Amino acid sequence: MDSIAIVGGATLNGEIPISGAKNSAIKLMVASLLTDEPLRLTNMPRLADTRFLGKLMQHLGTRIEERDGEAGPETLLHTPEILSHFAPYDLVRQMRASFNVLGPLVARNGQAKVSLPGGCTIGARPVDLHLRAIEALGAQIDLHEGYVYAQAPRGLRGAEITFPFVSVGATEHAMLAAVLARGETVLNNAACEPEIEDLAICLNAMGARISGAGSPTILITGVDRLGGTTHAVISDRIEAGTYAVAAAMAGGEVRLTNTRPDLIEALLVKLEEAGVGVERTLDGVIIRRNGARLKSVDIDTAPYPGFATDLQAQFMALMTLADGESVIRETIFENRFMHAPELARLGADIAVSGGEARVQGVDHLEGAQVMATDLRASVSLVIAALAARGSTRVSRVYHLDRGFERLEEKLNACGANVRRIKGAGSADE
Ligand code: EPZ
Repeated sequence: MDSIAIVGGATLNGEIPISGAKNSAIKLMVASLLTDEPLRLTNMPRLADTRFLGKLMQHLGTRIEERDGEAGPETLLHTPEILSHFAPYDLVRQMRASFNVLGPLVARNGQAKVSLPGGCTIGARPVDLHLRAIEALGAQIDLHEGYVYAQAPRGLRGAEITFPFVSVGATEHAMLAAVLARGETVLNNAACEPEIEDLAICLNAMGARISGAGSPTILITGVDRLGGTTHAVISDRIEAGTYAVAAAMAGGEVRLTNTRPDLIEALLVKLEEAGVGVERTLDGVIIRRNGARLKSVDIDTAPYPGFATDLQAQFMALMTLADGESVIRETIFENRFMHAPELARLGADIAVSGGEARVQGVDHLEGAQVMATDLRASVSLVIAALAARGSTRVSRVYHLDRGFERLEEKLNACGANVRRIKGAGSADE
C-alpha cells in the first residue's frame, strides 16, 4: 500500500488550480440513471470515489467514457436502459454515496435492491432519513439481510417531506427521486450546501423543475422524463479550503484558482481571525502568511454556510501551532477526531472530550510516522507535516486518493517536498 513522505519546513508559493467537487460529481453521475440520453460532466475530478461509483453504475447499465475535453477532464455517462436494479454490497460499501442510486432506480424503473452502506470511521451514518423520504414519495420499502428492497410499480408521487435535521445526502436523494414523481414535492429543512444547488442546476438543465435549491425549502414539480445535458461540476470547496489551510500552515503566498471565495467564506473569516492574510479574487483567493505566529481561534462545525465538518481536521492541524488554546466542536459526526491522536504523534497537544477538542498551541511539531484514518483526517496530517521539523511518513494514503486529485503534484508545484512511496506497506499497516 502506498504511503506519503513529507519533508517539512518549506514555505508554499505559487498557484493551485482547484478541481471539480467530489461530493457534487458523485451525485451528478447518479443523475444519469434518470435519463436514456447522454449526460456530459465537465470539470470532473479523477478520484478513487468517482471510479468506485463508475463501477457500480456500469453494473446498472450506464456506459461511461472518461476523456480529456477542451476545458479539462470530462465524463460522458449514458444509461439507455437500466440493465440491473441490484446494487450489491461489495460495490456500495466502497463508497457510501453509492446508496443514492436507490431513488433514481425506483423513479425510473419502479424497483431497486440496494445494499445498506454500513457504518464508517467518522460515525454510524445511518440512512433512515433517505429511506423515509423515498417512502414518503410512495415507494414500498422492506429491509432484508442488509439490503433495501424498494418498489413503486406505478411510479412515485410528490409529497411534503420535513427533515428532522439537515442531511446533505438525504436532501440530494429526495431530489433525485422526486424529479420524476407525479405532482409536487416540498422538501422542508433541506440542506443548503452548494453541491445541492449544483445538482439542481444540472437536473433543471435535463428538464426537471426544481426551485429553491440552496435554501431550506425546495420545491420540485415532477416531470414525465428527463433528457441529456452538459454540466460543469462546481469547484471543490473542501479542496480549496484544504489548500488555504495548508498555505496558512506552511507560510508563503498561494493563489487558489478555478474556485469561488464565497464557497469557503466561513473558513476565510476564521483564517483572518487567526492572523492569516486573505484576498478574495474573481476566480478564487490568495492566502498569505509571513511567518508571524498565528492566534488561536475557536470553531464549531455546522451545516452550510457554517464551518464545514470536512475542514475541521485541517483547521485543527493549523491550530496546533497557534498561540494559546483553540476549542473545536464537532457537531455533525460523532467520531470525527481520529486525527487528534495522530497529530499528537507529531507533537500536538490536544485533549478530546466527547464532541469537543481543546488544542493547546505548541512551539513546534516534529516529523513522525502517522496513519491516515479517513479522507479529511489524512490530509490534516499532510498539512501538519508541511510545518513540522524533519520528515513525516503518512501511511494508508488510499484515503487521500478518494478525494484529493494529484495532491503531491499540486503542493510540490508551490515548493513543498511531498513524495509518494509506492507499495510501502507492511510496517505501516
Ligand atoms: C455529506 O455526507 C458529505 N459526503 C460528507 O463528506 C460531509 O461531511 C457531510 O455531507 C456533511 O457536510 C458526500 O457528499 C458524499 P449528512 P452525508 O447526511 O450526506 C446523520 C467527505 O469527507 N444522518 O449531511 O452522508 C449523519 O450520520 C465526506 O467528503 C442520519 O442520522 O452527510 C450525520 O451525523 C465525509 N440519518 C448527519 O446526519 C440519515 O439518514 C449529517 O449527515 C442521514 C444522515
